[in-house]
Amino acid sequence: MPGPLIQIDQLSKRFDKGALAALDSVTAHVNAGEVTGLVGPDGAGKTTLLRLIAGLLVPSTGKITVNGLDPVTDSGSVHRIVSYMPQRFGLYEDLSVQENLTLYADLRSVLGSDREEAFERLLGFTGLAPFTNRLAGALSGGMKQKLGLACALIKKPDLLLLDEPSVGVDPISRRELWRIGLPQKNWPIV
Ligand SMILES: Nc1ncnc2c1ncn2[C@@H]1O[C@H](COP(=O)(O)OP(=O)(O)O)[C@@H](O)[C@H]1O
Ligand SMILES: [Mg+2]
Repeated sequence: MPGPLIQIDQLSKRFDKGALAALDSVTAHVNAGEVTGLVGPDGAGKTTLLRLIAGLLVPSTGKITVNGLDPVTDSGSVHRIVSYMPQRFGLYEDLSVQENLTLYADLRSVLGSDREEAFERLLGFTGLAPFTNRLAGALSGGMKQKLGLACALIKKPDLLLLDEPSVGVDPISRRELWRIGLPQKNWPIV
């Protein structure tokens, strides 16, 4: 049987020497095919943990593997299988909805008919099809979150990391967001 998708052993992160640890000896694992929630108050270290899993931060001590790979030393391989939607979405506000999707498709090398299929699927899911020419900066908060999620799903990832995806989103849009994020393929979501 394969090991867990994410394995975290004695992981600590200290941003500054002498500062309090943002994460202190965290040990956990996440299996493939599961949805895992990470709960804690502001400043608990949730974003820090997600950024470490995505390989965007380097641990102070301890170890993480994603699919057996180290997110720092094997960053190329890990980036190919992980999508990360940051807490403050990573959209370009001065680009349109379509231009944001196209940019992410370029970055993920989603080309040809796969690309057309992805745009159609994601614009349909999110209800953003009527707004493809609207600047991302002019979208409502909920629509921005949906576009952020669409960009994260442009290539179906093995691991989808969502940092507070429904904050600032009204209850109906929130339900839609989870419907978009928890679909067909049993993607593990953190
Ligand atoms: N880049 C950084 N530099 C210094 N301290 C940071 C940085 N990022 C986060 N921290 C600190 O790490 C702790 C955990 O933050 P964070 O992971 O953002 O928590 P959460 O997402 O649970 O609200 C906080 O004390 C925060 O101030
Ligand atoms: Mg956070």
